Amino acid sequence: MITTDLHLKSPKGWINDPNGFIYYQGKYHMFYQHYPHATHWGKMHWGHALSTDLVHWEHQNIALYPSVTEDQHGCFSGSAIEHDGKMYIYYTGIYLPGYEGQDLPRKKPDTVLQSAQLMIVSEDGMSFDNEHGKKVIIPALTDPEIGNISDARDPKVWRGKDAWYLVFGTTTPEHYGQLNIFKSEDLENWTFAGKTSTKDRGWMWECPDYFETKGGEAVIFSPFGLDIDILPAAQTLCMTAHFDEETCSLTLSDKFDYIDYGKDIYAPQSAVDKDGNRVLFAWIRMPAPINDSWIGALCLPRVVTVENDRVKFAVHPNVYENFVPLTEETPDFVNGKYMLQLTLDEGSSISLGGYRIFLENHRLKTDRSEGFPENVSWDTFAETPEIIGECHLEIFIDGPIIEIFVNKNEASVTQVTYGRTEKLELAEAKDVQIFQFR
Ligand code: FRU
Repeated sequence: MITTDLHLKSPKGWINDPNGFIYYQGKYHMFYQHYPHATHWGKMHWGHALSTDLVHWEHQNIALYPSVTEDQHGCFSGSAIEHDGKMYIYYTGIYLPGYEGQDLPRKKPDTVLQSAQLMIVSEDGMSFDNEHGKKVIIPALTDPEIGNISDARDPKVWRGKDAWYLVFGTTTPEHYGQLNIFKSEDLENWTFAGKTSTKDRGWMWECPDYFETKGGEAVIFSPFGLDIDILPAAQTLCMTAHFDEETCSLTLSDKFDYIDYGKDIYAPQSAVDKDGNRVLFAWIRMPAPINDSWIGALCLPRVVTVENDRVKFAVHPNVYENFVPLTEETPDFVNGKYMLQLTLDEGSSISLGGYRIFLENHRLKTDRSEGFPENVSWDTFAETPEIIGECHLEIFIDGPIIEIFVNKNEASVTQVTYGRTEKLELAEAKDVQIFQFR
């Protein structure tokens, strides 16, 4: 079996969103959007990996693949829950009538893409009866007042007090993002129960997640067309929320934040870990492959809390357990795994082999333009909102992937870097400590 650690990386080919993340019968199961045949997006399968600590992963066989009419052009994103010892998976099936090709185009002019919501139940979380075990629970939508036939996807299921609930993202007839809520008593029969929309957060809300965590309730989704309407736009929003089970109404706060400021993080999904923490993973959308065999990774596990009406993300404690003070005589800061702890003063700047991190106007800013592939049009600068008080950084390096956490959970910047050299320039930083992955 292929293993991967610190960051869950694609075993081969392409991966995008985390799917079906669950702690199930003593193990963490992570599924992910997967196109095994090339380093680009294609007809979606669900890859599968297992972990006991959220840090070391073992890739498994492909779990879901297109096998019925409703998902013949892709098994899109979805979620998992446990009930009576079984694993229930909910996902979006994509069907483009008349289309025979391998690599699904996002839109085809002469037929309408159909998005249905499907389920499949596994006895053990390891075997999935793709041929006979799939069931359509919510057919492609035909009433635009409920949602859009093509853009309706990524069901996330949770247990309420008296029933099961499912949320997916769609778009209104006026082209605003919308979340639809469905309700079920038995996990198989689902009825439309409510919807919510706002006019200020883009037009299609992908991969919605609703949950309760320490400090409150939250909603997260990845909108299309918030600041810019072109891909790549790896923006994901978080906001506090309230779900009223009596009326099935989901109320979203007027304020929202980005879950990360690096512009490479998208389509997150959360679940509860074995200690009761709400933990989130997201897709690190790599601007270009590092080599020609794989592309795509998931970010570090992040513990999600609500503090003062804001959703916060901190590195999961299991990650720290894997770092020890640096003893290597010739550390490999280009390919290896390290954690740096340091403090930056206003106006100071450091460089990790050409990747610049600096504090300017009390905002943490990064510049990855040095060494960045010239033919890739992607944002190379990033900046956080204003940092209040001191600026303590934890910087995780895993080969090309860099994740920076400011003051534990004040803000994060996750970015893929290219062409970094070995040279660390840290003279302007204070209290520097370097750790290696054990
Ligand atoms: C988000 C997304 C989801 C969809 C999946 C397809 O990255 O577009 O909305 O289900 O990826 O791979």
